[in-house]
This record gives sequence, C-alpha cells and structure tokens, in this order.
Amino acid sequence: MSKAINSARVHANPNRGTAPGGPKGTIILGVMPEFNRDTLAFITRCRGYGDIVRARFFYVIAYFLYNPQDIELVLSTNARNYIKSMTLRSNFFQRLVGNGLVTSEGEFWRRQRRLAQPAFHRQRISAYGSVMVEFAQRACQLWRAEETRDIHRDMMRLTLEIVVKTLFNADVSGEADNVGRILTQIVKPFSSQATVKWILDNRLPTPAHYRFNRATAEIDKIVYQIIAERRGTGYDQGDLLSMLLQAQDEDGSQMTDKQLRDEVMTLFLAGHETTALALSWAWYLLAQNPDCERHFHEELDSVLAGRLPTVEDLPKLQYTEKVAKEAMRLYPPAFGIGRQPIEDCEIGGYSIPAGSQVLMFPWATHRDPRFFGEPERFNPGRWSEDFVSQLPKYAYFPFGGGPRACIGNQFAMMEIILLLATIGQRFRFSLCSDHQVTLLPAMSLRPRHGIKVRVHCR
Ligand code: HEM
Repeated sequence: MSKAINSARVHANPNRGTAPGGPKGTIILGVMPEFNRDTLAFITRCRGYGDIVRARFFYVIAYFLYNPQDIELVLSTNARNYIKSMTLRSNFFQRLVGNGLVTSEGEFWRRQRRLAQPAFHRQRISAYGSVMVEFAQRACQLWRAEETRDIHRDMMRLTLEIVVKTLFNADVSGEADNVGRILTQIVKPFSSQATVKWILDNRLPTPAHYRFNRATAEIDKIVYQIIAERRGTGYDQGDLLSMLLQAQDEDGSQMTDKQLRDEVMTLFLAGHETTALALSWAWYLLAQNPDCERHFHEELDSVLAGRLPTVEDLPKLQYTEKVAKEAMRLYPPAFGIGRQPIEDCEIGGYSIPAGSQVLMFPWATHRDPRFFGEPERFNPGRWSEDFVSQLPKYAYFPFGGGPRACIGNQFAMMEIILLLATIGQRFRFSLCSDHQVTLLPAMSLRPRHGIKVRVHCR
C-alpha cells in the first residue's frame, strides 16, 4: 500500500502554489499552546491534515513531514540544502555542546566527522563489547532480588560510564550519579513546554536560566578535567580522545581545549542518554508483554547457556535485536528531527521557504498504520526479513539518515543488545503498580519520573 502512495506522489503535483493545510492555533502564539499541552498527541493528530502540514509557532513557520519519501529528500537526497533547525542553534544548545559534531555545519563539521569516524569503525567498536558487558555485569552485582529500582536511572548511569570509558578511556563511576543529576537539570529547559523560551532564546535572566548555566558549568568541570588529565599524560591511548588531541590542521594548529570540550561534551550527551532511553523503554515494554519476554529469555538461554555474551554472539541474538528495534519504533529516543532550508525548496510539491523549520517525527511515522500494522502494539516479531524488505526507507529512522545520520548507530545497537542480554540473563523486571510512567518529550523522549521496577532473579 505504501509503495502506491509514493508513486502517486511522484507523478502528480497538484500542490504547487498552494500552502499545505494545518492547524491554525491562536492569533498570537499559533499552535504553541496545543503543542505544549501534549506534544506527542499533537504531532500524531496533525498527520490527519496530510503528508505535509504547516504550523505556526509564534512567528516561526514550521512544516511537519509524515511521508518517508519527503523525509528521505530532506535528510539524504537534498541534504546540502539544509542546516540543523533553530533549536539546535539556540543559546541553550550553544552553551551546552558548542560547535560539536551534532551542531556544527559545513566544512568544519565535515572535518570533525572525518576525524571522529575511525573511532566508530566496526572493528574498533567490536573491541568495546567486552567493556560494555563488564560494566553491565558490575552493575548487576549491586542489584538485589525483590528490591525496587528506577531502571531508567540505572541505565543512564551505566551508559554514561560505558561511553566515557570506551571513547575517552576515563572512569566516571564515582561521578556518574552526580552527572545524572546535573543532566536532569540541563534538559529541563529543553522540555517542550519551553518553546517560548526557545524562541526568545533564553535571553531573560530567569531562575531556570541561572540553574541551567550552573549545571552546565558543573559538567564543564568534569569534561575539562578529562581533557587536562590526558594532556598531562601526553601519550596516545588509541581512543577517540587521543585522535582528537592529535588531529592537526594543515597549518599545524591543534584543537583548542574549547573545541575538544565541545566534541567531548557532545559525545558525552549524544552517546549515553539516547542509548539509556532505548534500554529503559525496552525493559518497560518487556515487563508489560510476558510472551515477548518469554521469547527473549528463551533466546538468551539457548544462545548463551549461562555464560556472558560477547560480540561473536550478536548475529545469534536475533530476537534481542528485534526487541531493541521495536522498542525504538514505539519510543524513539530522538522523537523529532529538525532542519532549516538554506534556499527556497520544494517538498512533496509544496514550495517551502528558506528559513522555515522542517520537522520530522520518528514518533509519528513509526506509529503510522500505513507502514506498521497494529502500530501501537509491541511486537518484536514483526521485524522479519520480508517485513524489512517491503518497508519504505525512512518509515523507520530512529538514527536519522543521510550525511548527518547518527555516527554512533552501530555502537548503540551493539550496546543495547549486549546490555539487554547481560542483564536479561540474570534478571527480569515488573512495573511497580504505585508508579505511573509518563512521557517527557524534551530533547529526547524521557520517562518524566523514571521507571520504577521490582527486580526478580531469573
Ligand atoms: C539508541 C541510541 C541513539 C539514538 C536513537 C541516536 C539518534 C541520533 C539521531 C536521530 C541523530 C541525527 C540527528 C539529526 O539528524 O539531526 C544522531 C546524531 C548523532 N549521534 Fe546518535 N543516537 C544514538 C546513540 C549515539 C551514540 C552511542 C553516539 C556516540 C557514542 C551518538 C553520537 C551521535 C553524534 C555525534 C551525532 C551527530 C552526527 C553528525 O551530525 O555528524 N549517538 N543520533
């Protein structure tokens, strides 16, 4: 059915000269109040207006894209005509990750991406597998049967330790909780309720602004400490930090501490929170779907028979991989991806002006019944080879796509599967009935108050 939809769009262009439909919203703020009230419901509802939807936030015009073909055009085919969206260029983000890989543009971004790429080559990543399993195993040793834990907090701590150890060969276990607390402070201004702040770009000296700056300064201290320690030891440890430290421009100049700080902070944030979320949502979904959980345990028992997983087991942990994919379908950690056209362009036959915001939502596309039968149901089994081969490209895009696709895609998939396997072998979790899990669509798709579970030994 989806293929028919796409080919119809290629041949007909009835839209030229017209504007896409969309919600009108209020006179001054446009759709902002509706968007803030319940972001995920709003972006899902807007799909009803068509594949391209126009929405005004205050004075900013945004276009929501729901068709995989249009998403591919923006992220991949015509990527050169787009920069990141305005939220990523705001003072908030600049203060947080500066000119790191996620936010930089043009030649500068290309160079930094080239530099970082070797740290993410398949072979290199394989070497990280044992660290991932070792850290997961260490975390498990602290858990007790029948105790109550916040599994999201545990996953955040674990993935932070792993990314810092693998990419920067540093140990932050002593600081992990502190960093978690600081990060929670930091992402607060990024919650959807902050769209007015986005647009005013944090120019007001509010208490939230003050807290944000104080929290960012605390993380800065940790990051600068990692850099200073490495500059002090002065030798190549073969990790990403060494590569970045040694990289030289043609004129022989090296990266400044500030640029290094931006890259380290970017990977610090991009590399752990998203992965932790994918894991947290996977545990949450498994806890509610006993048949899937049973299937998952059967695979672990038959492939591993009680020993710890290694990267060699990955091809055999197929159901575990499907659990990871399906969890990211229903709860994509990066639930929205934005771009801004540099020049006027055409998408799906509509004229889209330079400077507008083009927003794509894995959350909505991943739950589109045109592409996923029973879209709300957690069904890892759907990810058969046949299903994957007929799924339109960009109907599923948890890692984005095109030149700015996630550099840590394989790293993350390996980490999620190895951590699910290591932990799932020893424990299962049930949700605490007195704790309501609610969504916070902030920078990423977080559980607002964590995910409280009861731990059971298997
Ligand atoms: C489940 C885990 C992850 C998810 C869902 C995820 C998602 C994404 C998405 C959607 C983008 C593209 C954003 C855009 O197009 O605007 C992205 C970019 C990026 N991700 Fe990830 N990510 C994950 C894990 C990681 C890990 C483990 C790392 C590093 C260790 C990482 C580092 C980055 C970086 C550096 C970029 C920017 C790449 C560039 O623009 O060149 N991510 N990620």
